[in-house]
Amino acid sequence: MRTPTIESKRLYLRPMTVADAPTIYNNWTSDPRVAKHMRWNVHPCLEATEEWMKYEEKNIDNPESYSFIFIRKTDNMPIGSGGLSMSDDGMCFEIGYNFMYDVWGQGYATEAAFRIMRFALEDLGLRELLAFRSIGNPASGAVLEKCGFIKDGETTCYKFDGTPMPSYKYTFRADDMSFTLNNGVKLPMLGYGSFLSTVKDGKQTILDALECGYRYIDTAFFYKNEKEIGEAIKDSGIDRKELFLCSKVWPTRMGYEETKKCFEESCELLGTDYLDLYLIHWPKVSSTDENWVALMRDTWRALEDLYMGGRIRAIGLSNFLPHHIEPLLETARIKPMVDQLELHAGYMQSEAVRYLKRHGIVVQAWSPLGRGAVINDPVVVSIAEKYGKTPAQILLRFLVQKQIAVIPKASSRERMLANKDIFEFFLESEDVSMLNSLPETGFSGEHPDRVNWR
Ligand SMILES: NC(=O)c1ccc[n+]([C@@H]2O[C@H](COP(=O)([O-])OP(=O)(O)OC[C@H]3O[C@@H](n4cnc5c(N)ncnc54)[C@H](OP(=O)(O)O)[C@@H]3O)[C@@H](O)[C@H]2O)c1
Repeated sequence: MRTPTIESKRLYLRPMTVADAPTIYNNWTSDPRVAKHMRWNVHPCLEATEEWMKYEEKNIDNPESYSFIFIRKTDNMPIGSGGLSMSDDGMCFEIGYNFMYDVWGQGYATEAAFRIMRFALEDLGLRELLAFRSIGNPASGAVLEKCGFIKDGETTCYKFDGTPMPSYKYTFRADDMSFTLNNGVKLPMLGYGSFLSTVKDGKQTILDALECGYRYIDTAFFYKNEKEIGEAIKDSGIDRKELFLCSKVWPTRMGYEETKKCFEESCELLGTDYLDLYLIHWPKVSSTDENWVALMRDTWRALEDLYMGGRIRAIGLSNFLPHHIEPLLETARIKPMVDQLELHAGYMQSEAVRYLKRHGIVVQAWSPLGRGAVINDPVVVSIAEKYGKTPAQILLRFLVQKQIAVIPKASSRERMLANKDIFEFFLESEDVSMLNSLPETGFSGEHPDRVNWR
């Protein structure tokens, strides 16, 4: 396809030509503050930028390269450029951008990157994108993460003159969104939450979820449905290796030996000899339990041993807040890989989420729809109308766009399918901000320091 002109809220994105060279040179290619983070070095003269523009102009019809100059609508000023090009190894399109220094921090990079991604997904039909950013440029990482890219390790990029530039690699996969845990295991961003899901139709609901394409099933000893899940898996004929099974040890079963027993029971009911993820369901059995730290540490030791024995591919926590994780980290041999918390618009636990991200622990949302209670919120409904999506899709998209994994529960196939269809649209920053700041809505009332599970 020929590079088209496209539009976002504040920008026109149009093909670059040699005539753009003087403004680009004056505005940013001659600026060392911009060049520092880019593959190109400072352009020493206008001719260098002209050479680059000649190359871009020649590529307007190249189906492996789409370069846009970003024109600010208010004053027709070119403020940046970027686009998509086939990566060096020819495997996948790579997204890149650069902006004049004066407009940094005003949301233009996110806006342009979003628009280019929509072009990639909707117009070019791409399913997977790559991006790199220099380690010294965290702002660019924040942009990529807002666009749904997932950090996929460190690498070395090279400036065009061969100078090494330590960088992070990011990937975006529309069909297979997953986090890479700190041990390399891939955790899908979307799973099926099974709490109470088998009450009415038994294993059939799980079979429906599997037929709708869910491969990650979240369960727990407490849900009393591991048997039905095991039967559904058997009936489905799906290879165990294709599935991602998560279960959890219940507070009344905590302790080293009891946890191991609880794990074996779950495996037996699920018809498997290993779990993909096993979590401590709650840090404490009750708010008055003074022995909770010792018990939680013993339980974690059991998880670590099962993990080291090859019985669990990843281990983690659920309902652990920073003050529960700190004493765990003091004695842990293996750092928790996941923490599953109640998170949804209206109950975002931002402090805990920040802490988990700082510690490299993947955040997963339970009750991502607020058990249905946030679906009718007028802000959510109006955002849904704006994007032509359902309120549930908006709530789930909001979380995955914030790099939070989700495990919604739904009973009908229609809802199961709709809840999966959240990877091909983007919420604009103002909508994310509105969802972030929704007044408290739909909180379950289950706080880890106030529950009593005895
Ligand atoms: N770690 C923990 O302590 C913990 C605690 C709670 C839950 N969880 C896990 O998290 C999972 C999800 O949480 P949750 O089940 O409490 O709540 P949820 O997923 O936030 O909400 C489920 C509710 O939303 C409705 N719903 C689903 N999709 C919908 C759609 N597209 N449109 C309208 N309504 C829709 C469902 O109705 P229908 O069922 O009628 O379709 C159900 O009533 C659980 O199933 C469980 O696996 C973990």
